[in-house]
Amino acid sequence: MSAAAETALPRLSVQSLCITYIGKNGEKTEAVRDVSFDIADKPGVGEVVVFLGPSGCGKSTILKAVAGLLPPTKGSVLIDGKPVGEPGRDRGMVFQTYTSFGWLTVQENVEYGLKLQGVDPKERGVRAREVLKEVGLLDFASRLPKDLSGGMKQRVAIARTLVNKPRVVLMDEPFGALDPMTRWGMQGLLLDVSRVEDNTILFVTHDVSEAVYLADTCYVLSSRPARILHRVDIPSFAERDIHLKSSNEFRAIEKKLLDMLYAPQPAA
Ligand SMILES: Nc1ncnc2c1ncn2[C@@H]1O[C@H](COP(=O)(O)OP(=O)(O)OP(=O)(O)O)[C@@H](O)[C@H]1O
Ligand SMILES: [Mg+2]
Repeated sequence: MSAAAETALPRLSVQSLCITYIGKNGEKTEAVRDVSFDIADKPGVGEVVVFLGPSGCGKSTILKAVAGLLPPTKGSVLIDGKPVGEPGRDRGMVFQTYTSFGWLTVQENVEYGLKLQGVDPKERGVRAREVLKEVGLLDFASRLPKDLSGGMKQRVAIARTLVNKPRVVLMDEPFGALDPMTRWGMQGLLLDVSRVEDNTILFVTHDVSEAVYLADTCYVLSSRPARILHRVDIPSFAERDIHLKSSNEFRAIEKKLLDMLYAPQPAA
């Protein structure tokens, strides 16, 4: 294959994805139906793609399939043209709940994955400090997670993911447990980090304001089973400051997404 053809491959391609859970007694729950989307590889551009949908619609299920934690019932998930089999270092996942090891320091937590990969201690230290700096936690490198606030713990989780340099970062409502002020700060931090790191972020939320603030592209999902109702390109705002969320431009996009979410839905 020529170099040009290679770069034309989407970074992530999800095609006709269907997922039905089958319970212990054989009961079926259809969570995702015929979801297809491509995310192009844009070298040097940190792209944020947001999935916005009502609670219980199947958002986490889509992310788990992309992570390789859940096999598709039908359809395919390809990264750089290759089917996703199982969890891999090309994908990193940040969950809603804090997932650090309580007995390890912040730095040891961030180094943990590299240690498992056999990266030598000196390089581990350098790489961990690099990402801790990016998320503003360098001064807390030797603390234990219990000494950190909720927002800081979530920054440890983000650092643990970024240190592996994943091509695709999967974030499942990572700021859901944070108070509005901290959440706002973390959204800004995420955008700053995504500009530095050359990765694609798939971000799941049911918060319309968060979707408008973060997304380059937003997919609006139906209630369960999740289907894509709309794809909305979000304009890049000149300034992302404290006034943005109350601006007319921002509010108009919020309203558009809300109208899409609350419009009569196609029959399941
Ligand atoms: N392991 C499982 N076994 C059976 N059903 C499941 C399982 N996990 C999820 N489901 C069902 O699949 C549907 C979608 O769940 P999912 O967790 O993907 O929703 P979600 O959009 O992430 O919801 P929320 O916004 O509340 O996090 C729900 O009806 C849920 O009950
Ligand atoms: Mg979920």
